[in-house]
Amino acid sequence: MTLAPSITFQGQASIEGRQLFAPLTLCLDAGRWTCLLGGSGVGKTTVLRLMADLPTGADFDGSIVATDGLPVVDRVAYMAQDDLLMPWASVEKNITLGAQLRGQTVDVVRMERLITRCGLQDHRTKKPSELSGGQRQRVALARTLMEDKPIVLLDEPFSALDAQTRAAMQNMAAELLQGRTVMVVTHDPGEAARLGHAIQVMTPAGLTAVTPPTAAVPRAVDALETLTCQSQLLTLLMGQAA
Ligand SMILES: Nc1ncnc2c1ncn2[C@@H]1O[C@H](COP(=O)(O)OP(=O)(O)O)[C@@H](O)[C@H]1O
Ligand SMILES: [Mg+2]
Repeated sequence: MTLAPSITFQGQASIEGRQLFAPLTLCLDAGRWTCLLGGSGVGKTTVLRLMADLPTGADFDGSIVATDGLPVVDRVAYMAQDDLLMPWASVEKNITLGAQLRGQTVDVVRMERLITRCGLQDHRTKKPSELSGGQRQRVALARTLMEDKPIVLLDEPFSALDAQTRAAMQNMAAELLQGRTVMVVTHDPGEAARLGHAIQVMTPAGLTAVTPPTAAVPRAVDALETLTCQSQLLTLLMGQAA
């Protein structure tokens, strides 16, 4: 894996001439987690997909630049809000899809480790239709982690998980993605408070930075500063919804 760069996103987007979001600047620090919170429809997925150089319904006027000057797109692992699993393929095949599509040898040791870490041992031969929503999401997460990229963009990666599995998967992702430049879109203030080295709240008017707790990531769910940050974020989001 190459070194994880910082990335600066600058620009505005519109859909059919209507502004989706005002000009904004979002800096992802190298090797750090940036959490992007915001109400539904505010444009979080659009920002993430623009970062990954994927199609959106929006016209983008701006730039996405890595500090090392190298292209971003070749170095990104992206996890979509919908799991986008291949319905005909087993869990194992879905997790290793990237290598298969590129005609590369599958790193079986890495796959096995991720299957275990994601709690999918009993499901490896199943098709997506035989899995629960939470299991499907863990397959999509494992597939993203399988890619071993320096830039990782995750769109609500833990949203379908029950509370205890969510906390466990957050811990695992924080461990395995150490040193990567990570951006997580989330609806969950508690998740941002646990995982964000930087936290940004998005509204149609732009971004508001919220100071994260000082403890190392992943932060304890019951630490006072985690809970304080969580309630600060929830209050901010509720104010925006009002
Ligand atoms: N492919 C598309 N075509 C037209 N409009 C879209 C498309 N994708 C998203 N939108 C619209 O853009 C807005 C922002 O969407 P999105 O980025 O998915 O928001 P978020 O992830 O914050 O919920 C929404 O109003 C949505 O309806
Ligand atoms: Mg979204």
